[in-house]
Amino acid sequence: MNIDRDASMARPVTPTYREADIAWRKNVVDAPVSSNKWIAYNCGRTAVEGRVQASNARIASTLPPGPVAVFVGATSGIGETSLKQFAKHTLRPRIYFIGRSEEAGDRIATECKALNAEGEYIFVKADLTLIAAVDEVCREIKKSEKTVNLLFLSIGTFSNAETTEGLQSLACLVHYSRARFIVNLLPLLRQATALRRVVSVFAATKEGLVDSNDWQLKNLPPYAILKQRGHAASMVTLDHQAIAQTAPEVSFIHDFPGPVRSNLARAGQGAAVSVMRLLFKAIAPLVCIPTVESGDRHVYLATSARYPAAAGGKDADGVPLTEGEEVAKGTDGKIGSGVYSVDQNGESAGDQVIEILAGFRRDGIGDKLWKHTEEEFRRITGQVAV
Ligand SMILES: NC(=O)c1ccc[n+]([C@@H]2O[C@H](COP(=O)([O-])OP(=O)(O)OC[C@H]3O[C@@H](n4cnc5c(N)ncnc54)[C@H](OP(=O)(O)O)[C@@H]3O)[C@@H](O)[C@H]2O)c1
Repeated sequence: MNIDRDASMARPVTPTYREADIAWRKNVVDAPVSSNKWIAYNCGRTAVEGRVQASNARIASTLPPGPVAVFVGATSGIGETSLKQFAKHTLRPRIYFIGRSEEAGDRIATECKALNAEGEYIFVKADLTLIAAVDEVCREIKKSEKTVNLLFLSIGTFSNAETTEGLQSLACLVHYSRARFIVNLLPLLRQATALRRVVSVFAATKEGLVDSNDWQLKNLPPYAILKQRGHAASMVTLDHQAIAQTAPEVSFIHDFPGPVRSNLARAGQGAAVSVMRLLFKAIAPLVCIPTVESGDRHVYLATSARYPAAAGGKDADGVPLTEGEEVAKGTDGKIGSGVYSVDQNGESAGDQVIEILAGFRRDGIGDKLWKHTEEEFRRITGQVAV
């Protein structure tokens, strides 16, 4: 029996996006003058949650059963909660999920079975700081699957050791491994008959200038965290733009999750990481998006027709929009153009980011990054994809 679904049927009907939006505005406008931004923040969260819940509640009735999903980095934090909420909302999903901790893998597979007994949950153990390991995982998946509907990437670390393949592990997990997963599984994503989507969780809407002579930022001091974040965020979005050119039927979403409790800082070292860890611990109860809510928001990104592929076609666009919801603006500033950079509320990046990305296009920075990436792939494995 599907325990959680039965329980959710008893819940009150979730509001539509418009209802939630009206409720939010009313709360903010009608609030006493003494109320502060904090109330607005929390009311805003309610509105986002209403929209997300309304859409996710229609996944089972609007998307075909049996979606195949690959969650990369789902043994804790945002990946884990997104995987569980995806299992909960979809019909007969088959989900591969990857991480290093076998113990966490076993626990999560059991918890997913309790959420949706009709799903299949296959844990694959791998250290994804190695491109060779990424290839092995992809080969295994390709042996069993002809199509993949969703590739969800949330691997991350603060540790920055050099790998045996000569890459910095931080850059590897954010850029090289994620890009390798996408190109390896792209044929399966392109062949999927329903949803065809890549979601990458990192620092979307925070894109900044890049150093195209030092892609792994070996020369940047470790305390320059904001520079590092802007550079790495741009790399993720540029990867999506480069790959989307060859796969317009797939949609690509890079998101910033907002503050969410997770295991992220456990592997980090150095004063900057220690300070961040302490700061985060102190303010977490005030600012963090609750874990399950974050999972739901990511399921919305993974399934809503708000983020269609450039050439998706109706069957692949996802859960249809409700009244008041609009198709999102892509990273080229055009509505529904297939590559999206969105914040924790699912809202598209503003003009400043669009301008930075337009500058990159003018200067051929995306091409330069992709050339470098393929060179690294060839150096390490002899091939640009497997
Ligand atoms: N949490 C936040 O507040 C926040 C805010 C902004 C951005 N983000 C971004 O969101 C993404 C997800 O972070 P999170 O907060 O969910 O962190 P997390 O709890 O540490 O999750 C990271 C996942 O990556 C896996 N992973 C790490 N190193 C790996 C490796 N070498 N090989 C295979 N898997 C590996 C971990 O699994 P194992 O340990 O089992 O290998 C875990 O499943 C990161 O890119 C992070 O930068 C998070």
